[in-house]
Amino acid sequence: MEKRGQWATNIGFILAAAGSAVGLGNIWKFPRMAYGNGGSAFILIYFLIVFLIGATVMITEFTVGRNAQKNAVGALRTIDKKWTFIGGMGILTGFIILSYYSHVGGWVLKYCVAYLTGGSKVYADPVNFFLEDILGAGGVFPIEGAIIYPFIFIAITAFVVIKGVSNGIEKLNKVLMPTLFILLILLFIRGITIEGASEGLKYLLYPDFSKVDANVILAALGQAFFSLSLGMGVMCTYGSYLNKEENLVKNTFMICGLDTAVALLAGFAMIPIAFAAGIAITEGGNAGFAFISLASAFQAMPFGTAFGALFYILLLFAAITSAISILEGTVAYVTEELNISRTIAAAGLSVIMFGIGILYTLSQAYANLKGIWLDANGVSYPVLGDFMEFMTDKLLMPLGALLFCILVGWVWGVDKAADEISSHGRYPFKLKGIYTIMVKFVAPIAIILIMLGGFGII
Ligand code: PFF
Repeated sequence: MEKRGQWATNIGFILAAAGSAVGLGNIWKFPRMAYGNGGSAFILIYFLIVFLIGATVMITEFTVGRNAQKNAVGALRTIDKKWTFIGGMGILTGFIILSYYSHVGGWVLKYCVAYLTGGSKVYADPVNFFLEDILGAGGVFPIEGAIIYPFIFIAITAFVVIKGVSNGIEKLNKVLMPTLFILLILLFIRGITIEGASEGLKYLLYPDFSKVDANVILAALGQAFFSLSLGMGVMCTYGSYLNKEENLVKNTFMICGLDTAVALLAGFAMIPIAFAAGIAITEGGNAGFAFISLASAFQAMPFGTAFGALFYILLLFAAITSAISILEGTVAYVTEELNISRTIAAAGLSVIMFGIGILYTLSQAYANLKGIWLDANGVSYPVLGDFMEFMTDKLLMPLGALLFCILVGWVWGVDKAADEISSHGRYPFKLKGIYTIMVKFVAPIAIILIMLGGFGII
């Protein structure tokens, strides 16, 4: 068996976990969501959810991982054999997410190349560049969008994971995350100073509580879980590489804070840019916004192509560090439980995920591939790509987070968890009272509500 990896430094751990959290969810999902759902009213609710419920689930996952110093399946087994299946479910979730995440990451890479080489290919016809060249809507097999770029993306991901926890993942995050912050701040300055920015900013800052209803709150909850990478054992795995001397409470708040800061900065950068260009922000879905609509904004503004390149590089860095964390979650399981080498596990798993992802990309326009879904509206046959996202966002991730909370709150017990959280008394866990209420009651109830909402039952 190979020697287990460990983070070399605490800041390395914080940046790697923040790297997992900061992803496509922050940069292309959050801004549109906040814009369409009441501006700062939504932001306020999102804040409360992240720091009360999100932080509770995150610290719970870290604690389970650090307690056992094992992969998610092994860590859960250490607490109670009967609950090992949550780890298995997490691995499956990671598998599905990375299958599509790696393909979207590939598309982002193609946009990086397009903008770095002048942007003319995108500007010539932004709709066709995405729908035909990448998704194959015109009937020509999209070799670049479905094969070449996603393959490069997953190969980079696998390469870093093969290098190991401190030598690969930690080192890369220590470079990419600070760079990401600098790029984001540049884009933010551009966003808030662009002509006509005040209109967009007003929209985002004005608290419109009339838009906030139960569905908006559920959407904020779902977004918080996805954005913080919760419910699939990834944070559990990352926590397992942390040594017992570090302060889990402080780390958790730092990571939640960094993730939220990136989402906000992205919102304040992108909404004014889109607004100034007259883009219909709420139309066309997240992919339509990031891959089609924004082209007109970059084409119109001074030095727009450079800012376009900057935006897609930012998106690429965010996506890579998230993809790495998902692959690491599955690789840790395969190496430790099935005794397969890290190299073979990472290479083998990523090839399979890449293969499934081809179907994801093709299902968007080129081929008629469907899944099956059951909710309060009855049986439906969504496009395969949507089916994969439904499976993870509406079912597997919330269910995983729910089971983590129930296991720790009710089976393992808050006292044992609190002992681990406090590093066995080294850092007094002052928030134990509130954590107890959160992990036993508030978080599980909130998650059950997200799930019922997702299935159209409430
Ligand atoms: N948090 C990532 C994002 O916001 O894009 C997505 C993600 C990464 C989800 C890792 C789950 C995960 F385990």
